[in-house]
Amino acid sequence: MNKRRILILYSLALLATVGARAGMPDTAAWAGQDQRNRRIYETRARHDPDGIGKFYMGREIAHVMGHEAAEWLERADRADTELPHQVIKQMKLKPTDTAADIGAGTGYFTFRMSRVVTQGKVYAVDIQPEMLSFIEQKKRELKARNVVSILGTEADVRLPDQTVDAALLVDAYHEFSYPREMMESIVRSLKPGGRVIQVEYRGEDPDVPIKRLHKMTVAQARREMAAVGLIWKETKDFLPQQHFIVYQKSRP
Ligand SMILES: C[S@@+](CC[C@H](N)C(=O)[O-])C[C@H]1O[C@@H](n2cnc3c(N)ncnc32)[C@H](O)[C@@H]1O
Repeated sequence: MNKRRILILYSLALLATVGARAGMPDTAAWAGQDQRNRRIYETRARHDPDGIGKFYMGREIAHVMGHEAAEWLERADRADTELPHQVIKQMKLKPTDTAADIGAGTGYFTFRMSRVVTQGKVYAVDIQPEMLSFIEQKKRELKARNVVSILGTEADVRLPDQTVDAALLVDAYHEFSYPREMMESIVRSLKPGGRVIQVEYRGEDPDVPIKRLHKMTVAQARREMAAVGLIWKETKDFLPQQHFIVYQKSRP
């Protein structure tokens, strides 16, 4: 698929955003009362149309990809452009691990992880019930009994504390409308020494044909993860267009 076609498809996928946001859990009341949010986030009237006008650590947060674009997540050429087998291999999961796919979408990575953690489980977390319905249907088709779908909120993954060995975030973090709270809840869900693996389109590379707010630089990603106490371990560049960044929760 050429770059222009990729850009058009991705733009169409993002156009589905508005409808999806309408169906999301309303955390505005909660957010409005939280003094801390006002210190962490900044709202600007002039902003990128691909963003929500809310800024975190200097970065504008992107619109959420709506469930109407589920097809985009399952596109055939993804295996060549995003090398999912390599992503799973590089995660170095153990068969007994508990993994989490945060912002799981249609479960493109969930089911690939479930085939590795055969004696463990995979939590698939998303805020769009339609995405979870898709995952539940696929779970039945594949008889993937070790997949557990979880409806999170915009600020909380709703996972049990200290249970997760590895949390994967593919092309999702830049959409989190409460990134600080989301990452704090992910860190709570990790076991001591548990890992976060973040995959994002490379923000440093103008040749990656993805909208600016839907890419991230390593420097920005590391700053934001350090803000919740995650320790950067390594950045691997085996993917054609994305960063693969590994962080760890400290051990007491
Ligand atoms: C671009 S899709 C990527 C889906 C999947 N990770 C993949 O690579 O196929 C981003 C997903 O993140 C989800 N998302 C956005 N904000 C979220 C949040 N705060 N908590 C959980 N999921 C969220 C969206 O609903 C969407 O399904």
